[in-house]
Amino acid sequence: MVRLPKIHIKVPGTSANLGPGFDLMGLALDIHNEFEFQFSKEITETKTELKNGKTLPFSKKEDLVLSSYLSYFSKFAKNLTPPPYHCKMTLALPLKGGLGSSASAIVAGLCLAKEVHKRLSTESLPTEQEFTQFLAEFEGHPDNTLPAYLGGFVFAYSTFGETLRYFRKKFPSSVSIFVLTPEYSVSTEESRKTLPKSYVTSDVIFNLSRIGAWMHFLDKRKFGDLLVGLEDKMHTPYRIPNSSPLFPLADTLKQEGIGYCLSGSGPSLLIFLERKALKSKLNELESKVSKIMKESGITYQFRRVKPDGIGVRIKMK
Ligand code: HSE
Repeated sequence: MVRLPKIHIKVPGTSANLGPGFDLMGLALDIHNEFEFQFSKEITETKTELKNGKTLPFSKKEDLVLSSYLSYFSKFAKNLTPPPYHCKMTLALPLKGGLGSSASAIVAGLCLAKEVHKRLSTESLPTEQEFTQFLAEFEGHPDNTLPAYLGGFVFAYSTFGETLRYFRKKFPSSVSIFVLTPEYSVSTEESRKTLPKSYVTSDVIFNLSRIGAWMHFLDKRKFGDLLVGLEDKMHTPYRIPNSSPLFPLADTLKQEGIGYCLSGSGPSLLIFLERKALKSKLNELESKVSKIMKESGITYQFRRVKPDGIGVRIKMK
């Protein structure tokens, strides 16, 4: 058998939706999950552990690296028995935190499988279109998996089985991005069940107009357009209802005209400040956030992030 090298895969976190771009827009962020895979004759069963030795925060059934790895072979390399591996993970993305931790696992599993396929099988590799289509379909909505794979600010859509289409835009460096991650988790699947099955025309028009504002912001880089572009009537109001622990913060940010959006299905939020106003506004923002979150009784992490323009990195050792 051909010897497989150690394969190290690093995947950026992502923030999906960016307000109105539900299941469409996603931004890769410079917070990364890392996966180190080892293969050998002696490894006869797949084993996954955390590099820091702590207990895995999910069960084998929920191991998306493994399930995506296996599903790749069923789709693209049917003649090959997927070799078992040992995986050591370093997870910087919170689980069910709205920052693309599931997408990072899927990207890692599929990219690993493709590397193995390249080395062990004579069956032809999937084209990039076939691979990205599969990547998009694996999770069901491409706005996390595509930016995690490609890096950058990605618009990706593949509605009801259509061919996946995507393009990237440069995220303006005149804007600073902060991530607030409350220390509780939200299941995307459960959260999607709270959304309406259909929308009134005025809400659809509202969201279309906000995508227009985003395009204008990306073109002209006026912060005011971003503030309009972040507004959403399709998922945010249902995911942060008045009863949500996040409501007091979201409401204050809205009242004070501070740009924010729910990251994916939450609970993380992205908060945006104009870079030139950072010095005058950041301290004020941090104390406001701290006061409200304390009153709501939620512990959280607040950090500055930058877009990740690279996407998945694969290294052989
Ligand atoms: N667009 C998806 C949603 C992303 O909002 O449900 C999930 O992270």
